[in-house]
Amino acid sequence: MRKTIAIACMLMLAIALMSGIAGAANPVLKVATDAAFPPFEYQDEKTGAFLGFDMDLINAIGKKMGMDVQIINTAWDGIIPGLLTGNYNCIISAMTITDERKQVVNFSDPYFNAGQVIVTMKSNTTIKTTDDLVGKAVSVQIGTTGDLAASDIKGVTVKRFNLAPDAIQELRNGGAVACIIDLAVAEEVAAEYTDIKFSAPFTEELYGIAIAKKDTDLLKKVNSALADLKASGEYDAIFKKWFAGK
Ligand code: ARG
Repeated sequence: MRKTIAIACMLMLAIALMSGIAGAANPVLKVATDAAFPPFEYQDEKTGAFLGFDMDLINAIGKKMGMDVQIINTAWDGIIPGLLTGNYNCIISAMTITDERKQVVNFSDPYFNAGQVIVTMKSNTTIKTTDDLVGKAVSVQIGTTGDLAASDIKGVTVKRFNLAPDAIQELRNGGAVACIIDLAVAEEVAAEYTDIKFSAPFTEELYGIAIAKKDTDLLKKVNSALADLKASGEYDAIFKKWFAGK
């Protein structure tokens, strides 16, 4: 009798443990981002929490897929090699879908319309288009489409920074006459620093979530989650939260 009770107790304990584990055992989606690119990805100064449009979107996508999202803050320069090495399952980092990147990774369906702009000091009245940058010093975040655009301009001294905010700082410090960066980021920066302004976008870009080529199953799941979020209005709600009135 005692033995039966003991066995029953052990069984109950085992079941309780297993269901406990099962309850917390969503598969983990490891996501890399360079979290210094507000309003897409940044960290709360006090808590370190990852915030931004991309963060809300990937959390919603993870939820749809029944996965727990783990954000891995990663330097932009090297973020694609890290994916290829298998350090994480995907990248969401305001990453523009380019033909060059498509050689090495797959992209989800586009989730955001973007473009590069020229950021200058308000006091500057001479720089309006990329032609006005010929022979000038321009700051960019290294390896971005802004870097590519600047590098394409004749005689430009491209000042490359690991972090986007440092590229902006270079402009404000007078080390560059312009900074080339993504539109929504320029809007965010201009709201904070009232001494700067920015041009209309001079490129047309789309952001996508980068996934290793061999991970075709994940690509399908991400795309269907994204489509669901667009159809249900959840995507729109996230968009409104970060880009109200735009
Ligand atoms: N959209 C640009 C690119 O793909 C810049 C992205 C930079 N993202 C970041 N989180 N720093 O090159």
